[in-house]
This record gives sequence, structure tokens and C-alpha cells, in this order.
Amino acid sequence: MSPSALPGAVTPLIPADALAERVAAMGRDIAAAMPGDVTMVALLKGGFVFAADLMRALGAAGVDARVEFIRLSSYGGGKESSGTVVLVGPMPEGLKGRRVLIVDDIADSGRTLSYVRQLMLDAGAVEVRIAALLDKPSRRVIPVPVDFIGFSVEDVFVVGYGIDYAEGYRYLPFIGVVE
Ligand code: IMP
Ligand code: MG
Repeated sequence: MSPSALPGAVTPLIPADALAERVAAMGRDIAAAMPGDVTMVALLKGGFVFAADLMRALGAAGVDARVEFIRLSSYGGGKESSGTVVLVGPMPEGLKGRRVLIVDDIADSGRTLSYVRQLMLDAGAVEVRIAALLDKPSRRVIPVPVDFIGFSVEDVFVVGYGIDYAEGYRYLPFIGVVE
């Protein structure tokens, strides 16, 4: 496959320029809602591209955010979650008294975000907000307050902009649907 060719079976859904515009607007919204100190807690691996762009959008809106990373169990190679969320990396230190913005790629069943939210509260965060690039409201099993949402999408399997299928497609600059 040539580098510029679309990988087979990926249908574009959200183009790169729409992502950039929306992430900039999210930065402004978050800056207005969380003025002052913010510690982003980005979820690996899927949230890393969104987190990098959101951090710079926050900077453009006047927020000098700190960033920490957290790694949880994921889908593995398939398209369905196992239903169990496990912390598989180190827990960030120094969250006590901090205002935390959890940053993830997709709010799906809500299990991951609800688990991380409790983890942040247990670590002593004084405020916990959640930003998800994509929301699949029809898939929610565990209710969780997602304060900042980029785009709501149908129940489709998406890739790109950090989001993978079997560890592939993360490099795509746009969000696409895998059949
Ligand atoms: P939840 O715990 O069910 O909400 O799962 C959320 C996580 O599942 C997301 O952070 C993604 O890593 C993964 N996920 C959910 N939907 C998709 C998808 O369409 N493509 C790739 N990963 C997905
Ligand atoms: Mg994820």
C-alpha cells in the first residue's frame, strides 16, 4: 500500500480539518469552565493524539495545563470490551488537591471513564471533569458525566487520530469507520 492510499475498508467519517476546529473549540470551552490550574490525565493509548492537540488548544486559550498519563486494560485485538477495567501502568502522583481533566478518545460503555473518575477522586483530586473526543451514547452501560464531548457518533467501530483496530490505523489524521 502506498503511504497516501486509504487502508482498505476504512470509510472517512470526520475529516482532519473538522477535528482541528472542534478540538480548538473544546479548548476554549474547557478554559472557560476550568480557569487556573488543570492537570490533564490522558488515557493511553487511544487518547494520546487527542490529548496532545487538546493541550495545545488549552494553551492557546490561556491554560498552562500539566499532563499525566494512565494506562488501562483495553479491547485487545477485538472490537468488543471485556467489561473489566484494570490499571496496567503506574498511577500518577501528586493529584491530591489538583483539578483533573480526564482525556479519552471514546466514551463507549462508560466503564473506563467511570473507573478512572473514581480513581482520581480516591487520589484526592478536588475536581474531576471528563473530556472525550467521541461519544457513543447508545452504547452506555454505566452512567458517567462526560463534561466535554467532541462529536457524538452512532454505534460504529471507528479508527484514526490515535484510535486503533488491533493496534493499527492510529496514524490516520482523520476518524474513519471500519466495516
Ligand atoms: P468503555 O469502557 O466501554 O467506555 O470503553 C472505552 C474504550 O473502548 C475507548 O477508550 C476505546 O479505547 C475503546 N473503544 C470504544 N469504541 C471503540 C471504537 O469504535 N474503536 C476503537 N476503540 C474503541
Ligand atoms: Mg481507550
